[in-house]
Amino acid sequence: MESYETHEHDVLVIGAGGAGLRATVEAAVQGVSVGVVCKSLLGKAHTVMAEGGVAAAMANVDEADCWQTHFKDTMAGGKMLNNWRMAQLHAQQSPERVYELERWGALFDRTADGKILQRAFGGHTHNRLAHVGDRTGLELIRTMQDRVVQQGVPVYMECTITHLLKDGDRVSGAVGYWRDTGRFVVFKAKAIVLATGGVGKSFKVTSNSWEYTSDGIGMAFKSGAELIDMEFLQFHPTGMVWPPGVKGLLVTEAVRGEGGLLRNNKGERFMEKYDPKRMELSTRDLVARSIYTEVKEGRGSEHGGVFLDVSHLPAETVIKKLPSMYHQFKDLADVDITKGPMEVGPTTHYMMGGVRVDADTGQTTVPGLFAAGEVGGGMHGANRLGGNSLSDLLVFGKLTGEAAAQFAKKSSKLRVREEDIKAGIEEMLAPLARTSGPSPYEIHEKLQELMQSYVGIMRTEQDLKHAIEQLQTLKQEAQRVRVTGSRMYNPGWHLAYDLKTMLNTSEAIARCALQRTESRGAHTRLDHPATSPEWGKVNSTVNQDGDGMRVGTSPLPQMPEELRQLFEEPVAAAKK
Ligand code: FUM
Repeated sequence: MESYETHEHDVLVIGAGGAGLRATVEAAVQGVSVGVVCKSLLGKAHTVMAEGGVAAAMANVDEADCWQTHFKDTMAGGKMLNNWRMAQLHAQQSPERVYELERWGALFDRTADGKILQRAFGGHTHNRLAHVGDRTGLELIRTMQDRVVQQGVPVYMECTITHLLKDGDRVSGAVGYWRDTGRFVVFKAKAIVLATGGVGKSFKVTSNSWEYTSDGIGMAFKSGAELIDMEFLQFHPTGMVWPPGVKGLLVTEAVRGEGGLLRNNKGERFMEKYDPKRMELSTRDLVARSIYTEVKEGRGSEHGGVFLDVSHLPAETVIKKLPSMYHQFKDLADVDITKGPMEVGPTTHYMMGGVRVDADTGQTTVPGLFAAGEVGGGMHGANRLGGNSLSDLLVFGKLTGEAAAQFAKKSSKLRVREEDIKAGIEEMLAPLARTSGPSPYEIHEKLQELMQSYVGIMRTEQDLKHAIEQLQTLKQEAQRVRVTGSRMYNPGWHLAYDLKTMLNTSEAIARCALQRTESRGAHTRLDHPATSPEWGKVNSTVNQDGDGMRVGTSPLPQMPEELRQLFEEPVAAAKK
């Protein structure tokens, strides 16, 4: 059997984006031994793509703001399918999580009287997004990364985790490999936090970079955890559409938050037709569908998008408030956004569904296994409001890190089984041993085409059935992939395994989308355009069923009366 090195921690955090880093900080504060593993270099995470701000009802700009309004906005944005307890904790705790970051050294833009400045974003009643120009996610990561380094937590960089290990029902460790050498590594841990982000790389047009192959969701599912609401995938309305090499790259919602206007090829502000009240600051699901419709009906731009314009704003404002966008368009598309419009279109951005977690602890349905950030489902319901991802990862990163540490403190030493490690390693090595078989790149391309065309913004029964059938064929092909070369720096070999995970999670998305015969939030069924009261009472569920999956539903947790009343009375009264 191949040799491997072993490390042992009380808590192992897999993923070092915002949620993973915040969980790591908190677990370390609890005084347990923590290790954090990341597939990429430390600091490179999809968190940086939440550019426009972190949503928190601090009321620095609009005094009327309060957690109750943030809660209501989040639930309304999620079409009431959100886990109410998560939405409540999130709205109540996000202001303190932002102030805490400020104490740790994070920089924010300021109001004239020195408070953290907050800007408008879609679906938020008040100016609520604390921000640093259009680089907010980056600043969050920088701050928490410094913190983790100061705490002396070991960071295992460029290490991919492929398999979770169990001792009976409980998670007890993980198997992975170093991306540079291809050598294997085993981690033993009493508690594991999954914080590996989303599923974007299963789609052709995405804001996600190469790391986002649904690893955490896939591993949790394979170890017996329940998934929920996998049909709810966010297509951010504005990604770049041109040139082809940067198609999908995020164009932050802050552009619209700062006053950017959306127009079609006739020069019309088309949001007037779809949401005349909120216009460009409507929720993402609606703006993405509106852009899709404008393009489909022939009112799009030359390269299949629409126009987003800030050139009516003073050039110095654009450069000060949107510096990344200014440089992104200048350097990558040769467009000066202070002088003319950007071409933009929807891009796969964020998974609202994911692993079922307990709201207060992040505990999944598998003992010892926790999930935070995009891996965990429930918080955002059917559609996430912009800026709620950064506050989500701060609030639930902290709660989960703390709970995982407490869980580990109460746990006795666990076993990892040699035969499970061997099975994991053999599965990894198989593609290198084959003398023939399809290339993983070919299958990945087919997967991305399939998901983009058949499981995208607009869905039908026929398309979804086609996708599910094709996914079975791709799954069989993925079992036969052949990889050439050695294990050193071999992205084809890495993809051979990631592909299996992506195919599984893609099937979960397609099956849940087929099951939900209504349109709600980010899930639009052309053959079921109405929102159904019956479907509003249930979450979708996905569980293991032998080698396959079983899709079903479970009732939404009941919202307590005092929160339910918030939807019936003005919030000002509830605040008192
Ligand atoms: O548009 C953005 O800046 C993205 C924010 C988010 O996804 O929360």
